[in-house]
Amino acid sequence: MRKALSVLLTAAMASSLLAACGSSSAPAAAPAETKAAETQATTAAATEAVKEVTEAAKEAEAKGDTITVGFAQVGHESDWRTASTNSVQAALSKENGIDLQFVDCDNDSAAQLEAVRNFIQQGVDYIVIDPIVSTGWDTVLTEADDAGIPVIVIDRTIDDSDKYVSWVGSEFTNEGLAAGAWLKAYVADKGISEVNALVISGTTGSSAQIGRSNGFDKFVESEKWNKLDEQTGDFTQEGGQKVMESYLKSYNGKFNVVVCQNDNEAFGAIDAMKAAGVSYGVDGDVIVISFDACTAGLQKVLAGEINADFQCNPLQGPDCLNIIKKLQAGEKVDQKTFMAEPWYVAEDKLTEITYTNNSGKEVTEPLVHVDQAVVDAAY
Ligand code: AHR
Repeated sequence: MRKALSVLLTAAMASSLLAACGSSSAPAAAPAETKAAETQATTAAATEAVKEVTEAAKEAEAKGDTITVGFAQVGHESDWRTASTNSVQAALSKENGIDLQFVDCDNDSAAQLEAVRNFIQQGVDYIVIDPIVSTGWDTVLTEADDAGIPVIVIDRTIDDSDKYVSWVGSEFTNEGLAAGAWLKAYVADKGISEVNALVISGTTGSSAQIGRSNGFDKFVESEKWNKLDEQTGDFTQEGGQKVMESYLKSYNGKFNVVVCQNDNEAFGAIDAMKAAGVSYGVDGDVIVISFDACTAGLQKVLAGEINADFQCNPLQGPDCLNIIKKLQAGEKVDQKTFMAEPWYVAEDKLTEITYTNNSGKEVTEPLVHVDQAVVDAAY
């Protein structure tokens, strides 16, 4: 089963080009028109490749050569997650010679460990994990290693084990740092002298939560902002709404910034502020910061309801396929691949931010002003 299917996978890679827009190979903040042109240019080649792949997949299946991949997905908590699932399912597809065993772990860490153990028992060829939390992995990854099953980690990181072959995902601390750098520049531009911030964090212990909190907190410290509270909304709309409803009981009239660690939490927080008659966004009293930049999130940026949205790129399917293709061919794979991630804003006055990133390097990065074309090109 682990036999190389190079021809099949080479053709499969061509077909995955369509899905690759916005993935790690895309330049940060590529204009929407450029992305559209790139997509058109690859359409013909990809259509042809899909035909070849389908034929090759049929042949491989007939010979019993299908590659089996188990994917232990976090859950279905957000628009981002749906895009991530779709991306992996589209790339690791039957047409591409892969039999994908998909498990939605419903944000339950114990269920995720069990899913991985089941994959090991089944003797799948590869395991893909998007880890709900960043610790508690070493034992099960040792079991996978002992069974000779390569593990690929996507999106969030595993921080207590190195027994996986490759990781592809986001630099969450940079997302948090960029949010802080933007807020610093924004309040300076608006002449706002005091920042009283509330944070609605993501799933506690996930690397997405840890990185975004740590990055933003650097600016809380250096700028002497008041962080009034930080509670988890578990990356869900319902969670964001509940946390904001509770914040409004304690802090109504006392805060001027809310940092929501994903778009769905922001939607919930916005609903709660609306219901309470609190004004927010570009024309309001409360600055709204979000992460993900999914289509619905960017629609709210365009409408001025979210002031800034820091992209987390979910399109890791093509990268996964590429990694499997290389492993099948006995080639080396990159240990880490970072996704390209632009920063989006509602107003066009600030065009870039400069900050020291998580690698200690001073960087200047563009701020993309959201218009309809940007929304249309989103995931
Ligand atoms: O790990 C990525 C995060 O998880 C995204 O920001 C969020 O939407 C998702 O649930």
